[in-house]
Amino acid sequence: MTAALLETRDLTIRFGGHVAVDHVSCAFEPGTLTAIVGPNGAGKTTYFNLISGQLAASEGQVWLSGSDITALPAPLRTRRGLGRAFQLTQLFPNLSAQENVRLAVQAREQGRGRGGIDIWRVWLDHKSWIDEARSILESVRLDDKRDVHASALPHGDQRKLEVALLMALDPMVYMFDEPTAGMSVDEVPVVLDLIRALKSRKDRLILLVEHKMDVVRELSDRIVVLHNGALVADGEPAAERALRDAEHQGDLGVGHLLEGGEDEAPGGQTCPDRGNTLELII
Ligand SMILES: Nc1ncnc2c1ncn2[C@@H]1O[C@H](COP(=O)(O)OP(=O)(O)OP(=O)(O)O)[C@@H](O)[C@H]1O
Ligand SMILES: [Mg+2]
Repeated sequence: MTAALLETRDLTIRFGGHVAVDHVSCAFEPGTLTAIVGPNGAGKTTYFNLISGQLAASEGQVWLSGSDITALPAPLRTRRGLGRAFQLTQLFPNLSAQENVRLAVQAREQGRGRGGIDIWRVWLDHKSWIDEARSILESVRLDDKRDVHASALPHGDQRKLEVALLMALDPMVYMFDEPTAGMSVDEVPVVLDLIRALKSRKDRLILLVEHKMDVVRELSDRIVVLHNGALVADGEPAAERALRDAEHQGDLGVGHLLEGGEDEAPGGQTCPDRGNTLELII
């Protein structure tokens, strides 16, 4: 069995009396895509925030590559290889799409200690950062909009730019929280193709929160279900059973999950105390 790249042990957070993530223990191996599903309010986004460090755990631990990273702030976790897509509002809305991606590429490279103070080195690196940014924008079909300010992009393009930024950071662990929410039908396959391509890289680990069960079934190696903050099922068909049980308990957003219906769930949850991506890596 491959060693876990990422593991949460009894990971818990309470907001006042409400336990949003409740003693979740789960290990994830490189080269796999795990879908994390569950009704609205189940704790999926909060679980991501605990893993990436935007929220501090009340109890439990997060382990990455065999090290306990629970005490590390988000920027250091990002440097260690945890990456999640961020909302553009927390990036540089007045810079172009290309500049945003270039900065993410640059931050990644400098975070790896390859930035230089030699002016020629800086110039050469700068050119290669731009080339990479362009190629990433091409892969999300935003190359024709590279000079448009991030804030001026239509919603679907902004979501694609968020994915582009994550690709630029190229973390060991990719966390996608409803990556296609709010996208038009013709944009969705672009993002799904990228996730498929990432999955074929056997050294990366992908966690995907997604409400569209047809997408989940097609992409995932494993499905875990969160409900009321707790991990209630791990792997099909237990996962599907758990979703149905949740549905019978009257939760919203489960029926259409099982039917593989259109995404009606709210996406792009906010996390009040997270900073912007570059702040996280620098
Ligand atoms: N900062 C916070 N303060 C107080 N309560 C919070 C906070 N963040 C999340 N919660 C609560 O934690 C619970 C889990 O929320 P979370 O956003 O993680 O659910 P989710 O599974 O991502 O839902 P959705 O599918 O709708 O995105 C909810 O009851 C939510 O109101
Ligand atoms: Mg959420």
